[in-house]
Amino acid sequence: MQKIIVELGAYSYNIIIDKGLWLNIGAKIRRISSAEKVAIITDDTVDSLYGEYLAQQLRLENFTVTRIAIEHGEQSKNLQVLSNVYADLAAFGITRSDLIITLGGGVPGDLGGFAAATFLRGIDFIQIPTTLLAQLDSSVGGKVAVDLPAGKNLVGSFYQPKAVFIDPTLLESLPQRYLHDGLAEAIKYAAFGDEELFAKLEAFSSDAELLANIEGIISTCCRIKARIVQKDERDTGERMLLNFGHTIGHAVEKCYNYEKYTHGEGVGIGMVRLTEQTEKLGITAIGTSERLRKILTQYTLPTDAQLNSGQIIDVITMDKKKSGNAITLVVLDKIGSGRLIKIPFTDLAKYIF
Ligand SMILES: NC(=O)c1ccc[n+]([C@@H]2O[C@H](COP(=O)([O-])OP(=O)(O)OC[C@H]3O[C@@H](n4cnc5c(N)ncnc54)[C@H](O)[C@@H]3O)[C@@H](O)[C@H]2O)c1
Ligand SMILES: [Zn+2]
Repeated sequence: MQKIIVELGAYSYNIIIDKGLWLNIGAKIRRISSAEKVAIITDDTVDSLYGEYLAQQLRLENFTVTRIAIEHGEQSKNLQVLSNVYADLAAFGITRSDLIITLGGGVPGDLGGFAAATFLRGIDFIQIPTTLLAQLDSSVGGKVAVDLPAGKNLVGSFYQPKAVFIDPTLLESLPQRYLHDGLAEAIKYAAFGDEELFAKLEAFSSDAELLANIEGIISTCCRIKARIVQKDERDTGERMLLNFGHTIGHAVEKCYNYEKYTHGEGVGIGMVRLTEQTEKLGITAIGTSERLRKILTQYTLPTDAQLNSGQIIDVITMDKKKSGNAITLVVLDKIGSGRLIKIPFTDLAKYIF
């Protein structure tokens, strides 16, 4: 068992990572919540795998439970679906002293977390992430949001959960594509901040070996994220490091209408594409992009998206991370060492071509 405390004053919370934690999850939730009602926000796939078990566990602890299952996939992370979730919460009669649990990947986590942040001006929520991406990234740090047609995560909030319960055994049902998708975020953490983690990920020779070591990988990533979030909860400085690969990655996802590439796949493409350019610009040590390309290929992740720089830049123009005429990018000096640079928007082509 690993316990990580995210220290944010009155909003501090624990991340518990433990294989088998799921087996008596009801009691663990009761220990930190005196709610009468619990709304589980999940997606249809995760609901059919784990929804009933969680509901039963909660009923054993005398919670009154409802399950709200949105359709799975990024396409659901929008205002219309959010509005339906609000209607379901209202029909359930949830109050401010009750509880929301988000069960699933980053989509139910982000949308459900935003519902918790906003419904009745805020209801306590707990994250139970079920994808690798959500276990090592999206469930930690309190960023909750939905997408707009204009771009990803454009409507959102900073709203910390009361706890994050991570059981890596829930990953056993995850299709390989999504296991590797989440690993792209682990590669991201390693690339900007932990060369030892990068080398560890390079050394695994199979998914079985990766999964045997996954608890340690998840806790290393959560520790990196917790440390950064503690210093910069509102994403005005160091937290932006977590966006390595994301400016281009989001654009790639969007260019294909979120249908061709998963989030992690987009991030992988973004990391390679940017680093190839920063190597040419003399910012990054030669060989870094090759090492990124190799590790992504090792985990069957794509490294290119067949898009020209004009297509990518058009989409980035809508990106919220652009402030005024400048944009902040995360670049690597070398593997394990990333930093932020602010460049005029007009220079962007140099970094993407
Ligand atoms: N809030 C943050 O800080 C943050 C950080 C990174 C990513 N994100 C967001 O996360 C989202 C992507 O997350 P995701 O990849 O987890 O997406 P997702 O929630 O859509 O999950 C991916 C797929 O896996 C399925 N699934 C989930 N758990 C499963 C399990 N245990 N077994 C079998 N199938 C399972 C889902 O039904 C879905 O089809 C994006 O919207 C991204 O913007 C947020
Ligand atoms: Zn991400």
